[in-house]
Amino acid sequence: MAQIIVGLDIGTSKVCALVASVEENGDVNILGLAKSPCDGFIRGGIFNIDTISRAIRNVISMVENQSGEAVKKVIVGVAGSDIKGILSTSVITTRAPNHEITKEDVARLIQDAKNVRYPSDKIILHTLPQEFKVDGIEHIKDPIGMIGIRVEATVHIVTASVSLIENFRRTVNRAGLEVEEFVFQPLASAYSVLEPEEIEIGVALIDIGAGTTDVAVFEDGILRYTGSLPIAGERITGDIRKAFRIQKYLAEELKVKEGYAYLDAITEDKSIIVHGIGSREPFEITRSMLCQVIQPRVEEIFEILYEEHLRKQGFARSLSAGIVLTGGTALLKGIVELASKKFEMPARLGIPTKGFAGGFLEEVQNPIYSTAAGLVLYKAEEIKQGMKSKGSIINETVKKLKDFFKTIFG
Ligand SMILES: Nc1ncnc2c1ncn2[C@@H]1O[C@H](COP(=O)(O)OP(=O)(O)OP(=O)(O)O)[C@@H](O)[C@H]1O
Ligand SMILES: [Mg+2]
Repeated sequence: MAQIIVGLDIGTSKVCALVASVEENGDVNILGLAKSPCDGFIRGGIFNIDTISRAIRNVISMVENQSGEAVKKVIVGVAGSDIKGILSTSVITTRAPNHEITKEDVARLIQDAKNVRYPSDKIILHTLPQEFKVDGIEHIKDPIGMIGIRVEATVHIVTASVSLIENFRRTVNRAGLEVEEFVFQPLASAYSVLEPEEIEIGVALIDIGAGTTDVAVFEDGILRYTGSLPIAGERITGDIRKAFRIQKYLAEELKVKEGYAYLDAITEDKSIIVHGIGSREPFEITRSMLCQVIQPRVEEIFEILYEEHLRKQGFARSLSAGIVLTGGTALLKGIVELASKKFEMPARLGIPTKGFAGGFLEEVQNPIYSTAAGLVLYKAEEIKQGMKSKGSIINETVKKLKDFFKTIFG
């Protein structure tokens, strides 16, 4: 029987839900996709539970109508500066000569690595094995089946603040739903927008949303680093509003319709009539005048990303696949060209175009849906693995690791 998955993305500008079915043959079909504007959630700050839960109920009833499925459980994406990655290591030694490393050994190593010290107001969101060392041999991705006495694991532990997670849970519960799982957003989005080769050779996935810009670096098939900054699309709209002294909704409309992030990308410097506040006369601006407001802010975002999150972390030279931009602000015209110039790397737009067999295929191809689509694909992969290995005792963590770089990327 087909299994139903529902991904829920609670962003700073909208709530969106995607319902999909995982068929017995492994096909994932989108049965419903809806979004509702919502500004109840400000990363790291105000959390208006009532406003968000109303928006959740709204999108859920839309996808219930589209799909004919009653939704009870949702997979929720989380991101932002509250999420931190820690590297932890663990060791086991076996006495028996010619000991063949088992799944259980690896599960124990990962379990031990989870005992790393982290602040009491944090909880573990993901445990992602990075690599293993067997009797001094380094950079082993999968030690199961190897002969070895001393096995070491390096594990990337992703933690989130307890209050963030509990606020999300409460909000979802208030909407009459249960949280099936919390998933770190960039990990999910990687499933919907990145290519396996990019994850292997090194790529920075940059999600520029409304309230935050999140960066995740993948290399050698795994998540290496994540970071976040509280500047994104809303700030750009605010800049436009102030620069031309217009209302926020007009600034937003101007940005979306006529906004360019890069002067050199403007082919026709068309003039635009703008309505002033109150009784003020309409006035005329040009695309390049608008771009002169947008470009410095986008450049600032890119400079912080490069300096703080790539160069200082040692990724400036190693990302052979360069930059993939996603999130609503990645729709700004010229932004991909600007990214390529500023980062001095190849850059492309990341849109959810893969992983789904049918249903809403055109509608989902928008960078604002990368997270919701990724949440569903992440879970679908787990279900498909379960279908294949029914009855076998595979540790969840090891299974997820394997899914991540073997199944869809392998
Ligand atoms: N065509 C477009 N051109 C430029 N900006 C756009 C366009 N479409 C949407 N945006 C901007 O994208 C942002 C919304 O993107 P997205 O839906 O990814 O954000 P979010 O998930 O709500 O926020 P966050 O991820 O920061 O919590 C808004 O600031 C919006 O103005
Ligand atoms: Mg978002």
